[in-house]
Amino acid sequence: METSRTTPELQAYLLGHQDDLVTYIIQFNELMSRYNAAIKEVTTKLEILKSDFQIRNCRSSIESIQSRIKKPASILKKMRSKGIEVSLDTIRSELNDVAGIRVVCPFIDDIYMVADKLAAQDDIRVITIKDYIRNPKENGYRSYHMIVEVPIFLMDKKEMIRVEVQLRTVAMDFWASLEHEMKYKKEIGDCQGIVEELRQCADTIADTDRRMLDLRKRIAGGQTPDEDTD
Ligand code: GTP
Ligand code: MG
Repeated sequence: METSRTTPELQAYLLGHQDDLVTYIIQFNELMSRYNAAIKEVTTKLEILKSDFQIRNCRSSIESIQSRIKKPASILKKMRSKGIEVSLDTIRSELNDVAGIRVVCPFIDDIYMVADKLAAQDDIRVITIKDYIRNPKENGYRSYHMIVEVPIFLMDKKEMIRVEVQLRTVAMDFWASLEHEMKYKKEIGDCQGIVEELRQCADTIADTDRRMLDLRKRIAGGQTPDEDTD
């Protein structure tokens, strides 16, 4: 559709294509409801892992689970920026993060444990893994990213739907949220050493994460059964 049409022309155009538009909107909403179902499936899996771990270990391996469906405007923006032709098929085939889940864990080893237990489930298909914890991004960003496919069961068929799962510690989440907020509000140039300072903050946080994990292990290692019951 050309953007130069005047309003009456646009109205006439839309009236002429009303059926197509309605069909397209219905199909788009159907696709989004599939992503929503996939989020529910994966979130339930994570919640079950969380409660089973809690029962066995008397501590939580997951602090929080958040999810979101990418907004239509963001879907369009991303596809245009990547030069992908916009269609329902290409949304499914080319975008990995229409359905997104963020899992915040207390400690680094919780991330790998939760990721492994999820990946090992026989109805989960792992598409890609990006380990930005072992290989941090140049700006200091750390998280563990998984793209997985999960089956959703409809009235007449089963469909595999893609979900992006980001796992990070509370400390990594603190850095990523503030860095995102600052970048969102203002384009960070390379001036004033801001980029370097942000990276140093990320490194400090990563070091603290490692020390906290070490402390947890030392405390657990020093516990006798008697102390455990206190
Ligand atoms: P998109 O960035 O979604 O186009 O995909 P990609 O192929 O670059 O994937 P990647 O796994 O690198 O990043 C996916 C998501 O991780 C992003 O959409 C953000 O939510 C998050 N992320 C990646 N890099 C950064 C970063 O430098 N800072 C922050 N705050 N978040 C990041
Ligand atoms: Mg994304």
